Amino acid sequence: MKILGIETSCDETAAAVVENGNKILSHVVSSSIRLYQGTGGIVPEVAAREQLRFLIPVISQTLKKASLSKTDVDALAVTVGPGLINSLLVGVETAKALAWAWQKPLLPLNHLLGHFYVNFVDRLLEEPSGGGELSHPQSAPRRIPVFPLVYLVVSGGHTHLFLAKSHQRFSLLGQTRDDAAGEAFDKVARLLGLGFPGGPEMERAAYGGNPMAYLLPRPMLNDPSLDFSFSGLKTAVLRETLKKDFSQEKVADLAASFQLSVVETLSAKALRALRQTGVKSLVAGGGVLANQALRQSLADLCRKLAVDFFVAPKKLSTDNAVGIAAAAFYQNNPWPWEEVAAQASLKELVLSHQ
Ligand code: KG4
Ligand code: ZN
Repeated sequence: MKILGIETSCDETAAAVVENGNKILSHVVSSSIRLYQGTGGIVPEVAAREQLRFLIPVISQTLKKASLSKTDVDALAVTVGPGLINSLLVGVETAKALAWAWQKPLLPLNHLLGHFYVNFVDRLLEEPSGGGELSHPQSAPRRIPVFPLVYLVVSGGHTHLFLAKSHQRFSLLGQTRDDAAGEAFDKVARLLGLGFPGGPEMERAAYGGNPMAYLLPRPMLNDPSLDFSFSGLKTAVLRETLKKDFSQEKVADLAASFQLSVVETLSAKALRALRQTGVKSLVAGGGVLANQALRQSLADLCRKLAVDFFVAPKKLSTDNAVGIAAAAFYQNNPWPWEEVAAQASLKELVLSHQ
C-alpha cells in the first residue's frame, strides 16, 4: 500500500510516499522560512502564497524521486489541521482535487499524528546511519512503538502529553497553558538578537554557554498537573536582558540556561506522566525534538526507568509529510473527499468518519 502524504500546515511544503506505514519511498520538504529573517516570525499570507507556488512541484518531485506515477499511488493523505488556515487550505484543496481526478481514497489527518507516526517508519531507509542517533543495527528487527504509551509532542504550536492506548484512543494528559516550548525558543531567540527560527539558533548559541550561569524558573514543576507554562520563563529571560550589566558576551550563558530549564521541565513532566500511567514506552515528536539536549535528557530518563524511547532522526523531527503518509496507513480511515475540510484549530487527534 503506497500512500502519498501532503503536509502544508505552516511554512513547510512537504510531500512523501510511504509504503505500508514503514518504508519511505521518497520525501521532499520545501520551506519558506528564509523569507522571515527580517520579520522574526512567519507571515501567514506569505507562507500561504509560497505553499501555492511550491506544492505541485513538490508533489511531482516526490513521485519522480520514487519513480512512481499516479497509478502507483494507492491513497492520499493530507494534514487538515491544526495550523495556519490559508496554508492548510492549499494542501487540503489540492489533495481533494487529486483524490477526485485520480480516483483514490483520501485520508484527513491531524498534524500531531504526523509527529507521532514518523516514529513508526523504518529510519534506515531514509538515513543509512540512522542519523547517528538512537538507531538500531541493520540486522536487528525493526522496533516500533507498542501501546499503551505516553506521547510527548513539542513543537512551535504545541506542548502536549497524551496517553495512547491504541491507534484510535489518545487521551490528553496535559498541555501548555500559554506558549508552546518551540514558540518560547523562538521568542527568547528574538530577545537575544538571534535569528529565526529561534530553536536551532538557540541550540547553537547554547553550545558555547554555561547552563548554570542563570538560575531560571522551572515553570509549574510544583503543580501536580501535567500541564506546562513557558511564558513566565520568557519573561525571566527578558528581565535578565534589561539589567544594566547585560552584554553580548552573556547571550550564550543565557541561551544555555534557558535551554536547560526547558529540557528539565519537559523531562520532569514526561517522567511524571510515565510514573502516573505506568506505561513502558515514550514516543516523542515535534520540531523541538531536533534539540540534542532534549533528546539526550529523554533518552537518559527512559534508560533509567527501563522505558522504551522512540524519537525520529533530527531531520524528520521538524515538519514533513513522512509521518502523515505513515499515519494514514495505521489510521486506515478514508473519507469521501467532499467532506474533508481544513480546520485551523482542530483538536481531535483521531478523525473517524461516521
Ligand atoms: O514541528 P515543527 O517543525 O512545526 C510546528 O508544528 O510548529 O516545530 C517548529 C519549532 C519551532 O518553534 C522551532 O524553533 C523549534 O521547533 N525547533 C527547535 C530546534 N529545531 C526546531 N527548538 C529547539 N532546538 C532545536 N534544535
Ligand atoms: Zn509540527
